[in-house]
Parts: sequence; structure tokens; C-alpha cells
Amino acid sequence: MDITVKPNLDGASGDLLILPVFEDRAWGPGADVVATGLGDWLEDYLDGLDFTGKVGQAAAVPGANGFGQILFIGLGDEADADVLRKAAGIAGRAAMRYESVTTTLSEIEIDGAVDAVAYGFLLGQYRFGKYLSEPKLSQTAELVLIGSDENGEVAHAEAVAAGVAMARDLINEPAGGKKPEVLADIAVSMAGDLGIDITVYDRDEIEAQGFGGLLAVSLGATNPPRMVVMNYRPEGAEKTLALVGKGIVFDSGGLSIKPASGMETMKTDMSGAACVFGAIRAIATLGLKVNVMAITPLTENMTGGAAQRPGDIYKARNGKTVEVLNTDAEGRLVLGDGLALAAEDKPDLMIDIATLTGACMVALGKGIAGLFGSDDDSADQVEAAARRAGEKVWRMPVDKDLRSKLDSPIADLKNIGDRYGGAITAALFLQEFTDGLPWAHLDIAGPARADDDDGYIAKGGTGFSVATLVAVAEDMATG
Ligand code: BES
Ligand code: ZN
Ligand code: ZN
Repeated sequence: MDITVKPNLDGASGDLLILPVFEDRAWGPGADVVATGLGDWLEDYLDGLDFTGKVGQAAAVPGANGFGQILFIGLGDEADADVLRKAAGIAGRAAMRYESVTTTLSEIEIDGAVDAVAYGFLLGQYRFGKYLSEPKLSQTAELVLIGSDENGEVAHAEAVAAGVAMARDLINEPAGGKKPEVLADIAVSMAGDLGIDITVYDRDEIEAQGFGGLLAVSLGATNPPRMVVMNYRPEGAEKTLALVGKGIVFDSGGLSIKPASGMETMKTDMSGAACVFGAIRAIATLGLKVNVMAITPLTENMTGGAAQRPGDIYKARNGKTVEVLNTDAEGRLVLGDGLALAAEDKPDLMIDIATLTGACMVALGKGIAGLFGSDDDSADQVEAAARRAGEKVWRMPVDKDLRSKLDSPIADLKNIGDRYGGAITAALFLQEFTDGLPWAHLDIAGPARADDDDGYIAKGGTGFSVATLVAVAEDMATG
């Protein structure tokens, strides 16, 4: 899709014009002129549709002013960037079959309006059509945004949206089509395109490197694991951000097996890794001046005859021994090795991203990620980035009082606590591998996957956290 920015509607024409409307049908930029041109019937018609301008409302009317069709989009009382992204997502979905689209949503006077509208529109049109005989993909070839783009907002939106779309594609792919080696190959080709360093460790190297948690989880799988480490090192960068993404391409639970219903969505248990891929892609595309180390342990969690047994003990990359009492608490095992590896380079900040616990979803619902941090600065930094990115996170405590729940009589720690505070004990487990460095953990078990279309989110993998991670990188970049 070709996205251009124009200062006003003069001489514009095309298949579809999308216009903003505030609550109580207060016309947004461009809408008043068109509404007047359409005639007196319009108000009655919109009354009949009960279209008042609430956030998310949409009303299509016949064309005018050089456009084949007009679409009014509700923005509610006041539009901020979140509302614009959402409205643009709805507009994008409604505009799928129109080739040339123009909108004045981007003329709303807030910072980043062009970015928000381009981002929402692009992702609103996202579809995973790969396995459909007749996929209904976007026909939109040209999007004209009315407004002004002084700071490369379109390029920014395109880079981040492409990272999110990549993550969504990987998450939506069935597990059989994304074996660890396949994902590693995708990372290699992406790294090649972007000029990023990459190292892929195979099963034997994983063992030799002491990635004991990743190896332990992989034992029950026929498809071998991979550890993928990418390094983006632009000239002029001063700080280093390490990203560690949980890459369980399918979580059966292992011998602590999940019920059938619990497995239905477990192809999405590599969302953390997918988002790390998407984020480093966006960061490198934008040329942000910050070093990024992206670590993604990739494996299936299966029940083969060689699978780890509840009660088995492994030694992690940092030398700590772990008694595995529940093989379904596997994410923390692979992340522990990833975090330990990251910590060896002493980055300024480490962030791990994982569909880690059902408990976090119980606590915060499906739309909000749990944010844990080693200290206020690290957590605040991620929280502020998430707010800018329009992703909902909520700070959770890394409460030391619960650490004793992970005590094991025969190993340095065990991999589960008791019934209560499951998202917190998981975070406390991860912290054991961070070597006391600044660290944040995003438990995205809820928001990684959507049950329905909503704004610029499409049912299925969401790519939640890509935009936040890019925003953190922007914050840490020089220049
Ligand atoms: N991948 C799951 C967590 C999950 C559950 C993500 C549902 C998204 C939706 C994780 O590996 C897991 O199974 N965690 C267990 C931990 C427990 C055994 C301590 C859980 O949350 O039940
Ligand atoms: Zn699990
Ligand atoms: Zn899992």
C-alpha cells in the first residue's frame, strides 16, 4: 500500500473518503463540508442508524465530492492517539475492498495523528489468508492521509506495523508449519535482509552451551530445538537493550499434560519470540541508534518417550539447578537460559516477553499484560513506552516474600510455587537468571491473542508488545 500525506482535500478524489465525527455528531475535519454537500437527508439517515459519533461507530453513505463512497467514523468526545488508532483500524477493515482511500482522520490536531492513523489503518487491514482458498485480502493500493508529516510519521507507522504483521503471521501459523528450525531460518533470512548479526545454536550446541532449560523442555519433542541470538549494533549507539522472547512453538504441557481445550491455542505460545522478531525488524528498519540483542529459545513442549519427567533436575546456563515439578511451567525454563545469556553481556536493560501464566490472565483479563520489574526505573520505562505505543500493561509486584515458595530441598530452586500468586512466582523464578541487572518482564498470556476483531486488532495473534518494545528502543536510542 502506498501511503502519502497531503495538506488538504483540494482536488482529491478516489473510491472512498473516510471522515471523522465526534460525539453528538459534531463533524470532524472535512466532514462538515461533505455533510452539507450531501444534503438534508443525511441527518435523518444517520439518526436512523443511531450514528451519533461514539468511538467505534461507522456509517457508510453514498459518494460525494469526487469520491465513490463516504464512510463516517465515530471518535467520541475527544480523540487521543489510542482513539485514532482504533478508529483507523475500524476504517481500515471497512475499506478492504476499496482501491484508493483518503481520510481526514489524520487531520485531527494531536501529536502523532498521522502515525496513529497509518498504523491503525494498516493493521486494521491485516488478514492471515495463507490457508484460505479464497482469502479476502486488502484491495487498498493507495491511502491518502490529510495532515502533515514533518517527522517521518508514515515511515514510522509502516515500520512498526510491518513488525507487528510479521509477528501476527508467525503466531497465527499452525505449529506444524513453524518448527524451531523453520523459525530459525526465517530469522536468518530476516537478519540477512536487515544486516543484523545472527547465531543459531542447534541441539548439540544448545547442550554444549549449557542451555539446560531449553534442552530439558525439548527432550519430549521430535523436532529439534534452536536458540537464536541476533545482534543489531548500529554505529553511534551507546546503550544496549536485550530482548528475550518465549518461543514455545507448541505447548502440550509435556508430561504434566494440558486438557485438550487448553491446547487449542497453544501454537501461540511462541508469541514472545515472534514479537522479538517483529520488534528487532522494526528497530533496524528505523535505524534506531541503540544496540539490540534479541534472544529467542525455540522448542516444542511435547510428551515423547524422552520427555523430562516431573521431578527431574537440570542445570541452567547460569549454573543454577532446577527441580521441574510441573513440565507445563516450561516457559520460565527456556527464558531462564535466555536471560542468563543476555546478562553475560551486561545490557542496560533486559526485557523478556512471554505468554507465561494463566494466572496473569486471571488477574488482569485478556487485554492487559502484566509488567514486572527489578526496580521502579526499569518498570516505569516500559510502562511509559507501552502508554505511547497504545498497549495496556499493569505493574505487578516482584514480591520477595514469595521467593521461598520456589525453594527445593534437592536443587537450587523448583519451577512452580503453590496455587496463589502464580504470575508473581513465575517472575521471581525468571529473576534468578538476571544476575541482579535491570530487568522487566511482560507476561502477555492474555493480550497475545484476541478472541475477536477489535479496532486494529484482528482475531488471533495480536503482535502485542512489538510497538512497546520499539518505543523502549526509541527511548534508549541516541540522537
Ligand atoms: N503457556 C502457558 C501459559 C498460558 C496459558 C498462556 C493460557 C496463554 C494461555 C504456560 O506454559 C503454562 O502452562 N503455565 C502454567 C504454569 C503452572 C503449571 C505453574 C499455567 O499458567 O497454568
Ligand atoms: Zn506450559
Ligand atoms: Zn507455555
